[in-house]
Amino acid sequence: MEQYAIRGGNPLVGEVEIGGAKNAALAILAAAIMTDETVIIENVPDVRDTNVLMQAMESIGVQIERIDRHTVKINAQPINNVVIEKDFIKKIRASYYLIGALSGKYKKAMVALPGGCNIGLRPIDQHIKGLRALGVEVKIEHGLIVTEAERIKGSHIYMDVVSVGATINIMLAAVMAEGRTTIENAAKEPHVVDLANFLNSCGANIKGAGTDMIKIRGVAKLHGTQYAIIPDQIEAGTFMFAAAVTKGDVTVKNVIPKHLESISSKLLEIGCEVEESDDAVRVVAAKPLVHTHVKTLPYPGFPTDMQPQIAVTLALSQGTSIVTESIFENRFRYVDELIRMGANIKVEGNTAIIDGVSQYTGASITAPDLRAGAALVIAGLAAEGITTIDDIKYIERGYEDFHLKLQLLGAQIEKVNTERELQKFNLKTG
Ligand code: UD1
Repeated sequence: MEQYAIRGGNPLVGEVEIGGAKNAALAILAAAIMTDETVIIENVPDVRDTNVLMQAMESIGVQIERIDRHTVKINAQPINNVVIEKDFIKKIRASYYLIGALSGKYKKAMVALPGGCNIGLRPIDQHIKGLRALGVEVKIEHGLIVTEAERIKGSHIYMDVVSVGATINIMLAAVMAEGRTTIENAAKEPHVVDLANFLNSCGANIKGAGTDMIKIRGVAKLHGTQYAIIPDQIEAGTFMFAAAVTKGDVTVKNVIPKHLESISSKLLEIGCEVEESDDAVRVVAAKPLVHTHVKTLPYPGFPTDMQPQIAVTLALSQGTSIVTESIFENRFRYVDELIRMGANIKVEGNTAIIDGVSQYTGASITAPDLRAGAALVIAGLAAEGITTIDDIKYIERGYEDFHLKLQLLGAQIEKVNTERELQKFNLKTG
């Protein structure tokens, strides 16, 4: 089974290019089926989630051509059915954006119901509430979400919880509705803004994305466009914390520093230097790191997708830190693995109480999900000795060439398949 082998101890030093935002790409790829004209999307990360979504789109007739590794040409004119099978949804939850996109364009969709996820319960009641408000009939039948509408009519929708996914699905369903839609208490994440910018470049009329009130005036038709996806805030943040935890000096390039402010400010609090320029951020960890407290919140708060990475860093910082997870209820599953590496962490409900230790030691551990997996890799990079990480398929869902980018920063990390390859790695790096 494929795993990462890591020999920790090297500070990460150098520059790393950040790719396109996975979560923006998922929304924008799904949105691209809403026009019959050709759409070219640039800066699409080559990761499992985006690739599976494109397979799901191809399964209903969408033509997709990869012009180069990060540029895709999409034509949805040949769509011949609106049924997204369970296999795709099982692999990638965000295929449910096709509910909003198909319902908005074809006024019907049949998409397998996403199941539970390993970071906690993930209800879709707000998606359904929004669709119904737009006049879409939504039924759950045989494990499928079935939508049908005679007409989609603009509406005023107040979201009971701030949900990225529901905001996106409602925007998709409303963009070609009759009349105006207002989404109140909308998510403000950068990828919500990126989706709005993409749709507007196709002729939509969406205002207010990035605030908590999004106003959409329905248009009859969308046209083709060429659009580049924003850089990935979470990939950038992961490398920034990797610099901190390994006492390194890393510049993340091709980023939007504004999107990284909540991350930069925590790094400053724990004793790193952070230098921003137009499209890069440099993190230098020259001094011993100190404790802080953090609570995950919707944007512009500290992202839940960065919670494991900051916890791994705080567990090596002097003093007691408190990490509160306020978005998902089961996002501390990596803590047991980290304890096996020597961390001192106690989880009570949605809070982790972390007493900093001076060193991790390498261990054989398993990635429990995407972001926690990445966080465990950076723990391994800081640990003394060898760490192996299983289930790296989770990490590959959202990080392109993760180990190769880390190698360029001086990390000793390789993908190995067999015990023999692992032994070779041990000998080579020992
Ligand atoms: C998206 C991101 C994910 C990130 C999360 C929070 C994508 C593909 N995924 O996930 O990486 O961790 O935002 O920033 O962009 N909720 C409800 N009812 C709903 C929908 C959500 O109660 O109908 C709750 C959830 O249980 C959770 C909170 O709202 O507690 C936020 O979830 P949401 O923003 O919807 O997350 P996702 O869109 O699934």
